[in-house]
Amino acid sequence: MFGDAAPGFRACESTQTYRVERLSAADAGACLDGLVALLRDVVDGGASVGFLPPLDPAAAAEYWVAAIRAVAAGTRVLLAAVEDGAVLGSVQADLAPMPNARHRAEVMKLMVHSVARRRGIGGALMRAIEDAARAMGRTLLVLDTRRGDAAERLYERLGYVRAGVIPRYARGAAGSLDDTVLFYRELWDGVANVRQE
Ligand SMILES: CC(C)(COP(=O)(O)OP(=O)(O)OC[C@H]1O[C@@H](n2cnc3c(N)ncnc32)[C@H](O)[C@@H]1OP(=O)(O)O)[C@@H](O)C(=O)NCCC(=O)NCCS
Repeated sequence: MFGDAAPGFRACESTQTYRVERLSAADAGACLDGLVALLRDVVDGGASVGFLPPLDPAAAAEYWVAAIRAVAAGTRVLLAAVEDGAVLGSVQADLAPMPNARHRAEVMKLMVHSVARRRGIGGALMRAIEDAARAMGRTLLVLDTRRGDAAERLYERLGYVRAGVIPRYARGAAGSLDDTVLFYRELWDGVANVRQE
């Protein structure tokens, strides 16, 4: 599936510090092992990103192959933070397909490897996915996160607006049903001819 990816892949070249790159499907295929390792690290660390620990490598790979297919189909944007050939973090934006929703995207699966946190990578990934969304005319971002997690503080710091809390939304690693916080952010600044009021 990704057999032609490796020769042209630039995102995993060695660098002194991390950089955020938008991955094509071919790029992501070449980084599949790193993406799988990232997802497993985050899930096995107890994060609420859809899976429960322990995350089987095959299940993680299956998730990424589906995500990469969505990238190839043009319905998903995938960014990665890469340093010295390692995938330190990633984030995705799912582009709402319906005719009345083409100004909207859902930000999902923001993840930074546990060894790379508190260096600003999460914030950098979020700013980069906002730039990518804005460039595609997606001016409303929506997302959700488990109440009390580091991501909740991050989104508030970045200017996301709390739309509300859904109680007992998702099961946590310890078996509890945890609340989720819904956030949104409008990206009107710098976008011409988008909002007429
Ligand atoms: C949420 C998550 C992505 C944040 O990633 P991160 O790279 O640590 O994010 P940042 O470094 O930008 O910010 C995190 C904190 O580090 C601080 N920080 C940033 N740069 C820093 C630096 N150079 N030195 C010290 N602290 C720093 C930030 O102020 C922030 O502090 P806070 O937690 O008190 O708000 C990460 O914790 C994660 O992957 N969690 C598990 C997955 C998850 O829950 N994802 C959300 C799904 S919705």
